[in-house]
Amino acid sequence: MYNSKIIGLGYYVPDHVVSNDDLSKLMDTNDAWIQERTGIKERRWVKPGSEDTTSVMGVKAAKIAIERAGIDKDEIDFIVFATLSPDYYFPGPGVQVQEALGIKTVGALDVRNQCSGFIYGLSVADQFIKTGMYKNVLVIGSELHSKGLDKTTRGRSVSVIFGDGAGAAVLSRTEDNSKGVLSTHLHSEGEHAKELALTAPGMGTRWVDDILRENDPKDESYFPHMNGQFVFKNAVVRFSEVIMEGLMKNNLDKKDIDILIPHQANLRIAQFIQKKFGLNDDQVFNNIMKYGNTTAASIPIALTEAWEQGKIKEGDTVVLAAFGSGFTWGSAIIKW
Ligand code: UT7
Repeated sequence: MYNSKIIGLGYYVPDHVVSNDDLSKLMDTNDAWIQERTGIKERRWVKPGSEDTTSVMGVKAAKIAIERAGIDKDEIDFIVFATLSPDYYFPGPGVQVQEALGIKTVGALDVRNQCSGFIYGLSVADQFIKTGMYKNVLVIGSELHSKGLDKTTRGRSVSVIFGDGAGAAVLSRTEDNSKGVLSTHLHSEGEHAKELALTAPGMGTRWVDDILRENDPKDESYFPHMNGQFVFKNAVVRFSEVIMEGLMKNNLDKKDIDILIPHQANLRIAQFIQKKFGLNDDQVFNNIMKYGNTTAASIPIALTEAWEQGKIKEGDTVVLAAFGSGFTWGSAIIKW
């Protein structure tokens, strides 16, 4: 049995910075409220007219990850793309990456597990590598939220949180079983699907002709909805559970964590988990202050930044954890 190891990381965020003060010009909100409740100072939103889309940003992040991996694009055996904001209803962006990177006709899988999407994607890649089916797998998380947010006061409890960006990782086969992805843990609870969702009818529930005919401009179902407090309460419980599950599976203790990289949902959630696990400030990496919540992109962006800043060293126990819409949640325990 092989093991899988991250050998290349990259991220891309649009250069257009949107501050909390900028948002207060669009809706009834303010810097103090946003910072106090979420920790966010600014986020990146693509500029109108920009070439950036979810797939384009994903490709930009992937190119960096592949270059850093030191492999040729044609050595990629499989692509996994996690997003809730694809360019098209179908096909998903995995195939767009295959085309844009000019990779030979390898498989491309689209994962739609929202904030947990990257961990789900990582887990899929890990399994394919562990079983010997593939050697190098490209995993991308990318989101373009800004085009789909309600930027009026009506949508303020959601729209101030989300940002655009992409992150990518190349996982590769290793025969050293003491290194790499030790285990991944995935969960879901569909009972709470509507607590954080965009419930606009899809072709699976309504006739497109009817949707177009009705075309009600006041229809809020085309914007994301979140029962914030309920999601928050579930997040802190599930984050803790799934991190513990990963540690226990590997006979590790919370003292063994060198660095925790949580999905960047809310700085308050990360601080709660930090306290619960008795970690110091250097052991939890956060960048939500700069980018907001970028859903499937948040973990690979944070992982890349932490690595670039030298915060992840050879032999470190790295814990990734996410919770979000679905509800879905997951963790990955990695020996770097
Ligand atoms: O990534 C996926 C997982 N997501 C999460 O884990 C997010 C979990 N939830 C949260 O992070 C928080 O619930 C939020 C940041 C979304 C909201 O914070 P909150 O402390 O739960 O606020 P709230 O929704 O209870 O709203 C408190 C007040 C309300 O006013 P009243 O009713 O007390 O007068 C809101 O209308 O704050 C008001 N409010 C705002 N005020 C200024 C809501 N959004 C805003 C805003 N600016 N942007």
